[in-house]
Amino acid sequence: MKVVSVVGARPQFVKAAAVSRELRARHDEFLVHTGQHYDYEMSDVFFEGLEIPPPDVNLGVGSGPHGSQTGVMLKGIEEVLMLRRPDWLIIYGDTNSTLAGALAASKLSLPVAHIEAGLRSFNRRMPEEINRVVTDHLSNLLLCPSDTAVSNLAAEGISQNVHVVGDVMLDVLNWARRRVDTRPAEVMNRLGLREKSYVLATVHRSENTDDWTRLSHILCAFNSLDEPVVFPVHPRARRVITAAQWQPKPHVKLVDPVGYLEMVALVRSARLILTDSGGLQKEAYWLRVPCLTLREETEWVETVQVGWNTLVGSDSERIIQAARSFVPANSCPVLYGDGYAAGKCVDLLE
Ligand code: UD1
Repeated sequence: MKVVSVVGARPQFVKAAAVSRELRARHDEFLVHTGQHYDYEMSDVFFEGLEIPPPDVNLGVGSGPHGSQTGVMLKGIEEVLMLRRPDWLIIYGDTNSTLAGALAASKLSLPVAHIEAGLRSFNRRMPEEINRVVTDHLSNLLLCPSDTAVSNLAAEGISQNVHVVGDVMLDVLNWARRRVDTRPAEVMNRLGLREKSYVLATVHRSENTDDWTRLSHILCAFNSLDEPVVFPVHPRARRVITAAQWQPKPHVKLVDPVGYLEMVALVRSARLILTDSGGLQKEAYWLRVPCLTLREETEWVETVQVGWNTLVGSDSERIIQAARSFVPANSCPVLYGDGYAAGKCVDLLE
C-alpha cells in the first residue's frame, strides 16, 4: 500500500509518530511536512525526540493569513499527490495543513483517511472547527477517538466508514512515558521545580492570543497564583506578550516551547495544568493531573464529564478560584482507547 501523510503543526508530529511507526513496518509512506511550523522548537525537536523519520518533502509554506497559508499548501500537496498517486492520503486533527490535504486529495479523487475525526467545539469562530467540519465531509475513512465523535458525525449525516479506534496520542504518550521513567527529569532540575508543587500553563489559541483583553486576564491570573507557574510560550503568544511589554511576577517562568519528552515530564510532575490546548487536556488526564481549560468549550468533553477537567474561560477571578479549589474526581475511567490506536488505523486502511 502506498500512503502519503501530511503533517505541518506541532500536534500532528506527535500523532504521526505513532502511525508512521506502524505504517512503515508494512507499507510505503511518503511524509509531507507543509512547513506550517518551522522553528526548531516547534518542529525539528519533535522529529528528533519522537524518532519520526524525516519528512520526504518540506513545502516550507511558513506563516500567513489562513487563506494564503492554506492555498500555498494546497498547491504543494496537489503536486506531490499527482506524482505519487497514493492509495491513501492520511491527515491528522484540525489544522490548516489538515484542510489543505483533504481538499487536494479529494479533488484528485484520491481516498482520504482522517485521524481524529468527529471532534467538534460547535464554535464556528475557531479556525480549527471550520477545518474539522470540512475535512470530515471530504474524508472516505473517519477514524474517531471516542463515541462522542461518532455521534457528532452522525448528527451531520456521516455514518459510512466511521470507526472508533481510540486516540493515537495515547500510543505516543505510553511510548514516551517509558523513556521519561528511565531518565532523571533534567528539565525539572533546569527549571528548579519540585514534584507536584507548580502549575504548568500553555496558551496559543487565536481566541486567547489575538485578543489582548482575554490574554491579559489570563496572564493576570498567572501573576496572582501562589505557586510557581511554568509557561512554555508559543511564538504566537510570545509576540503579543512582547508587544504589550507584559511583566511576569518572579514566580511565573516564561520559557521557550519544549520538546515532547520534556513536556511529558513537566505534565507528569505538575500539580495542575492550565491550558487552551486540546492535546494537553487529554495528556493531563492520562497522567492523572487535574486540568483547567482556558476556554468556554472543549472538544474533549469526556475529560470534563469524568471530573478531571473544568472550563474556566479567560476570566482572572474564575481561573484563580478554580486553581485554588478544584479537586478532581476519585476515579479515572478509561478514556480514548487502550493505547493501540495506530495499529487499528493501519488495519482499517488495509
Ligand atoms: C496551529 C493550528 C492549531 C494547533 C497549533 C499547535 C491552525 C489553524 N491552527 O496554530 O490548531 O493547535 O498549530 O501549535 O492550523 N510561528 C512561529 N514559528 C513556528 C510556527 C508558528 O513563529 O514555527 C508563529 C507564526 O508567526 C504564526 C503564528 O505563530 O503567525 C501562528 O502559527 P500558525 O501555524 O498559523 O497557527 P498556530 O497558532 O500555531
